[in-house]
Amino acid sequence: MADDPAPASPEESVSHWRTRLIHSKAEPPAGFRSLTTPIYHASTTVFDTLAEAYQGWRPGGPYTYGIYGTPTTLKLGARIAEIEKAKYTFIVPSGQAAIALIYLVYARAGSHILMCESAYGNSREIADDLLAPLGVEVESYDPMIGARIAKLIRPNTHLIWTESPGSITMEVQDIPAIVAAARPHKIPVAIDNTYAAGVLFDAFAHGVDISMQALTKYVGGHSDLLLGSVSVRDEATMRAVGKTFRLLGMAVSPDDSGQALRGLQTLGIRLKHLEQSALTIANWLKKRPEIALVLHPALPDCPGHDIWKRDFTGSASVFSIVFKDDVPVERIVRFVEALQLFKIGYSWGGVTSLVMAYAGLGREHRNYGRHLVRFNIGLEEPEDLIKDLDRAFKTLC
Ligand SMILES: Cc1ncc(COP(=O)(O)O)c(C=O)c1O
Repeated sequence: MADDPAPASPEESVSHWRTRLIHSKAEPPAGFRSLTTPIYHASTTVFDTLAEAYQGWRPGGPYTYGIYGTPTTLKLGARIAEIEKAKYTFIVPSGQAAIALIYLVYARAGSHILMCESAYGNSREIADDLLAPLGVEVESYDPMIGARIAKLIRPNTHLIWTESPGSITMEVQDIPAIVAAARPHKIPVAIDNTYAAGVLFDAFAHGVDISMQALTKYVGGHSDLLLGSVSVRDEATMRAVGKTFRLLGMAVSPDDSGQALRGLQTLGIRLKHLEQSALTIANWLKKRPEIALVLHPALPDCPGHDIWKRDFTGSASVFSIVFKDDVPVERIVRFVEALQLFKIGYSWGGVTSLVMAYAGLGREHRNYGRHLVRFNIGLEEPEDLIKDLDRAFKTLC
């Protein structure tokens, strides 16, 4: 292709148009203010001097490279830190990534980690398939253990993992008692704080060192993004997590971060509505003759209900029911499949009601077999959801 003639005006004559396509002096007018966070798509960050470029990355430090944060992702981190009252929050690609990151920060060959049996499903797989081959022993404990966890602590225990409430069996853990047992040994306590969306349970006030969330659930709130957060109590924990975070290439999408920032603005109103709807439906289910237990933290059937009353400021949209022993599993399957508004699906925290029957959770404590069904209540009218449940219960007859 023939080159075009050189441009005429004095400014333009400095360089070829092809160069000016890359290096432009054009700027929009100054003074724009809006209520939204700009979405920065960037891998490369540029510097004025080599000295700046040589500084290297540290959490809270200057920009160095897109993978360690853009103004969009760092704004999301800063907002989660503000809400959870954390020293710093790392944003990672998913809740699962947040869990894996925390384990990898503390796992060392020969170390021992305590993990509540109620932890999110893939935690056990992280333990067996990722950590065991690295020489790390992950021991499950009864989530209702409380202060008795002291007996399980060993000289090589490097981390205590908690999840409260457990997102399927719903046990509410006595976090202050676990922290009190861990503190004298300087063992960090981490919590999966997803149920509380970082707001219904003040993790740091209750003594934990690391609070992670699957932002995928309540912060995203619309079942359309995957993100996680890892919030830390202090400078030392920030440095420890930062070291591993830097090496794992945990880049997050600025678009998804922008969606999460938007989600935060409606989190309060969604949680309030979801709490009321979930309680209405849980209380209705409690009266059904087919149901043995309603595992909702705000109802007395739920293990740890008294701890929930003591430590939480509200409840969320996810809870489980346990069918009576004499209800055959095939009928439970039929019940779940007869639901129309409740869609069969994993996950929770979005606007659509979901249901999932678990084919055996392999739990040592409180083993509900195949009789446990979990619900996520969405933003539909509770009366319509109850009608849907009522219709599905007729299939049990
Ligand atoms: C309690 C809990 N933590 C973490 C995760 C993982 O989150 P993500 O789906 O973003 O990987 C889930 C997912 O269902 C969860 O239920």
